[in-house]
Amino acid sequence: MSTLTETTFKRIAEIARKRWGLALGERKMQLVANRLTSHLRKQGGSDIDDYVMRLERNPTEDDMLVLFDILSTNVTSFFRDPAHFAYLDRELFTPLARGTLSVPGRRLRLWSAACSVGAEPYSLAMQALELLPAATGFDVSIMASDLSNKALEGCRQATYTEQQLTGLTPERRARFLKKVTPAAVASNTAPHPSALTPLWRVTDDVRKMVEVRRQNLVEPYHGLGPFDVIFLRNVMIYFDRDTRREVVMRMHGALRVGGILTVGSAETLSGLDVPFKSVAPGMYVR
Ligand SMILES: C[S@@+](CC[C@H](N)C(=O)[O-])C[C@H]1O[C@@H](n2cnc3c(N)ncnc32)[C@H](O)[C@@H]1O
Repeated sequence: MSTLTETTFKRIAEIARKRWGLALGERKMQLVANRLTSHLRKQGGSDIDDYVMRLERNPTEDDMLVLFDILSTNVTSFFRDPAHFAYLDRELFTPLARGTLSVPGRRLRLWSAACSVGAEPYSLAMQALELLPAATGFDVSIMASDLSNKALEGCRQATYTEQQLTGLTPERRARFLKKVTPAAVASNTAPHPSALTPLWRVTDDVRKMVEVRRQNLVEPYHGLGPFDVIFLRNVMIYFDRDTRREVVMRMHGALRVGGILTVGSAETLSGLDVPFKSVAPGMYVR
């Protein structure tokens, strides 16, 4: 199997830029080379240049989604950047519960855009269940979207390893997660160690608040919104400036006036010239 040359890497970077707005800098070259080589080896060891030529000339949607999974990063965790959740508690959920703030029809719509394997949208659902319990009469729903097959599958499964639960307090674990029996193994074979790893599944009441769908953030959003809150966290870092601005303006169109947009702790809207008011680190209001 061939190795990834700089020219071929640039061709891949061009596909990623056009299709998904990803800005693949040269420091990503080694990572891409490792992931591509491992993918092609599993496929029977085809040549990197042939593979890239096929993607440029005659790709299927599935080929493209496989490449997206090779190039993208799904790192996430429950209640990541707790200050963002504290802001929602203080400025939205608690005032709604106390009646000092209202939303039309007592309906609250949140969107976790680039939800990865689901820790973010399920954290939002857990927080809403804690602070706006059914008795308050609010109808809360969360849309969780991503482009990656791996992410969407993980989000739909809502099943996590012990390690992925970092960020959840013991109280939340006890209330919102259930231990899942390891997959049944054939009785005549010894269980594979991974089959014995304990897994935890998000409970039905949390899962049913979350609708999972595929959405490429750099393509138009038809019929989405208006949302009260959008989490657009830790994805803009992968985009160039023009794409960031374009995506943020689409989010603006999908938020109600007064709605909240949240970005990751290493991200900012400053310098993008977009009509949002900064209200706290990473938090903006339309
Ligand atoms: C690092 S994860 C962030 C997950 C979560 N928002 C968080 O902060 O924990 C970035 C996610 O962005 C998704 N992503 C990257 N480019 C995208 C695009 N053009 N459209 C939709 N999702 C995209 C990736 O698939 C990945 O799941």
